Amino acid sequence: MRKFCVYGKGGIGKSTVVSNIAVALAEDGKTVLVMGCDPKSDMTRNLIGKRIPTVLDVFRAKGPDEMKLEEVIFEGFNGVYCVEAGGPEPGVGCAGSRSGNRSRYARPPRCFQ
Ligand SMILES: Nc1ncnc2c1ncn2[C@@H]1O[C@H](COP(=O)(O)OP(=O)(O)OP(=O)(O)O)[C@@H](O)[C@H]1O
Ligand SMILES: [Mg+2]
Repeated sequence: MRKFCVYGKGGIGKSTVVSNIAVALAEDGKTVLVMGCDPKSDMTRNLIGKRIPTVLDVFRAKGPDEMKLEEVIFEGFNGVYCVEAGGPEPGVGCAGSRSGNRSRYARPPRCFQ
């Protein structure tokens, strides 16, 4: 399994590039999971066409013992699996270190199995 992290300044094309690379890898026969850490959910909206429930939303609503993988992982274009970590409203309280922690701690349990 290989993991890639794409980050950088706002508006430089991260979501667009990652969505396209994910689809290309899936076309190549790879199993691909993308995890968005953007309050706008741009990348997973690109791949699914709508917003999906975030890990933090489901975690808050149900707690760690009750949340199920299928409540936070959805299949998008070309079979790419999509997860959205969740976080503050766009433009409110969003900061780099918090985004880093989200991607570290908001990973659904067993999602790489
Ligand atoms: N290679 C490209 N050539 C031209 N326009 C592009 C390219 N990649 C992305 N764009 C356009 O640039 C804009 C920003 O792209 P995108 O949303 O992917 O950036 P981002 O880095 O994810 O932004 P944010 O930090 O807001 O999440 C979009 O309108 C997108 O269509
Ligand atoms: Mg983006």
